[in-house]
Amino acid sequence: MQIAIDGPASAGKSTIAKLVAKKLGYVYCDTGAMYRTVTLMALRSNVAPDDAVKVTALLPQLELKFVPTADGQLVYMNGEDVSLAIRQEDVTNNVSAVSAIPAVRTDLTQRQRDIAAEGNIVMDGRDIGTTVLPHAELKVFMVASVAERARRRFLDNKEKGIDVSIATLEEEIAARDHKDSTRATSPLRQADDAILLDTTSMTIDEVVAKIMALHAERE
Ligand code: C5P
Repeated sequence: MQIAIDGPASAGKSTIAKLVAKKLGYVYCDTGAMYRTVTLMALRSNVAPDDAVKVTALLPQLELKFVPTADGQLVYMNGEDVSLAIRQEDVTNNVSAVSAIPAVRTDLTQRQRDIAAEGNIVMDGRDIGTTVLPHAELKVFMVASVAERARRRFLDNKEKGIDVSIATLEEEIAARDHKDSTRATSPLRQADDAILLDTTSMTIDEVVAKIMALHAERE
C-alpha cells in the first residue's frame, strides 16, 4: 500500500505522515528533506541554488540516507547527520530554486521510487500523487490557511531555537507556495484522484484519524 501526502509548505504533512506511518508500521519518506539536503550541499559548495549545471554536477557525490528513530527519522548527507541543518532559514529560502531544476527532480524521483519499491510506504511532498507514485492507493492533498501555517511553523521554530516573526514566516510561506506551484517541472498540484483535506481548524489527532479511516476503506 502506498499513501501519498502532498500540499503546500507547512500544512502539517510531515507531522501527520510520520504519525500515520508509525501507526501502520509503514516506512515514512520525507521527500522535502531530500530537496533540502541537495540545497544544503549546494550552499556549502558555494554553488548558486539556481545554477542548474553546477547543482546537477553535485548529485553523483550525494549519498542520502534516512535512519528511523522513535519519533521520526534522521537525515544523513554523506555520513553526516544534517537533520537540523536542513531546517535552517538559509536552506528553507533557497530550496525552491534547487527543486525547480529538472535534473534534480529526475534524480530524487528515482531515489524516492527505489525507497517505495521496498514495501508499504507513507511519502510526503509536492508531486508524490501526480508524479512520483501516480498509482498510490491513497492520495491526500493537505492544505491550511497561510496564517495557520505560519503559526504552526512559528511554534515549530521555537522548539528548534529559530527566531523569525510570524509576519516574515507568512511572507516566506506565500513566496515558497508561489514558486513551487508555478515551476515548469512537476509543480505543486492536487492529483485528480487526491482527497482534499483542509486542516486549518483540525487538530493533529483529527487529521490522523481521518487518514486512518481513508486507509481502512482501501484495505
Ligand atoms: O516539505 P518541505 O517544506 O520540507 O519541502 C521543501 C521544499 O522542497 C519545497 O518548498 C519544494 O520546493 C521542494 N519539494 C519539491 N517536491 C517534493 C518535496 C519538496 O519540490 N516532492
